[in-house]
Amino acid sequence: MNILAIESSCDETAAAVVRDGREVLSNTVFSQIDIHKLYGGVVPEIASRCHVEKITPLVERAIADSGLSVLDIDAVAVTSAPGLIGALLVGLNFAKGFAYANGLPLVPVHHIRSHIAANYLVYPELEPPFLAMVVSGGHSHIVSVKGYTDYKIIGMTRDDAAGEAFDKGARVLGLPYPGGVEIDRLAKSGDPYAVKFPQVSFKDAPFDFSFSGVKTAVINYVHTAAQRGQSINAAEVAASYSEAITGVLTEKFFSAANELGFTRLVVAGGVSANSMLRHKLQSGLPRGCKLYIPPLSLCGDNAAMVGAQGFYEYRAGFIAGLDQNGFATADIQEALCKPKDGISF
Ligand code: KG4
Ligand code: ZN
Repeated sequence: MNILAIESSCDETAAAVVRDGREVLSNTVFSQIDIHKLYGGVVPEIASRCHVEKITPLVERAIADSGLSVLDIDAVAVTSAPGLIGALLVGLNFAKGFAYANGLPLVPVHHIRSHIAANYLVYPELEPPFLAMVVSGGHSHIVSVKGYTDYKIIGMTRDDAAGEAFDKGARVLGLPYPGGVEIDRLAKSGDPYAVKFPQVSFKDAPFDFSFSGVKTAVINYVHTAAQRGQSINAAEVAASYSEAITGVLTEKFFSAANELGFTRLVVAGGVSANSMLRHKLQSGLPRGCKLYIPPLSLCGDNAAMVGAQGFYEYRAGFIAGLDQNGFATADIQEALCKPKDGISF
């Protein structure tokens, strides 16, 4: 089954063609980073307009690159939640038009589910059940993936997401947007134990995260030094800050896996590109466990992962009508539309 997949939830316009949820036939992305860089962050209105400009040529290119024709496409999958609502609606409305014009089923896909599904594209043997940690600009979740469309949240952030904390830390250190990758680069030359930044735990919810404290701590550290006229070692701060964030992510993920008895551990989302996090996950992996983490090219937002998850949503019968809406927020545990009868092959 060939799925045309579309992603436009934030600042990347992306289209891909994926076969049977596992094989990437084409994968095109237009990143708006250079545009939003001027403003130090994503400007939603500009993001929406940019998606409108890019989506048609990107879809045309994705189909051409796949070596298929429109007639070979069997369904259209599209990120429908969560994300910037104006940005989401561009992709969703394009997908509706494409599906209607070509008589194809429309499959709405949850963005965080699709981040997890990026791993299906690189690990053919990976199947639920497994434990997943999704760390992105807007989410930090530990999720039990019981089936391809069946999820239970084990822990989540109570305030800021890990990616948001990286971005704010980078900004206070004067690094350009997007900050996560810049702080990662700078941290490589600093001592991660030079500054002690706080790591938060909750007695009643041991797998929940909180990153607002560490974010405030780095802001205070930099501002206090500036007020005293002291210079800071930016690489040391970047490394110590990364240590605090990646340490708590790794520790809680492994402890959830141990307590719940999971041995297949999946990591996904933009922050899974972080080199310190990847090193900690690989070097500290508990005995008998296997780590699944996407290559850097599939950590950030892309449409191939939407095609992967879209296949399993379709198979479970989650086919939407043309009245399907997009949502700025959505629980990963809830389906985005009512299931039609399960589709069997
Ligand atoms: O998954 P993603 O591309 O978009 C969302 O769904 O949010 O994640 C973007 C987040 C941003 O906060 C970005 O700074 C962060 O992932 N990120 C990183 C790295 N690469 C991207 N954070 C730390 N280290 C990186 N290497
Ligand atoms: Zn994302």
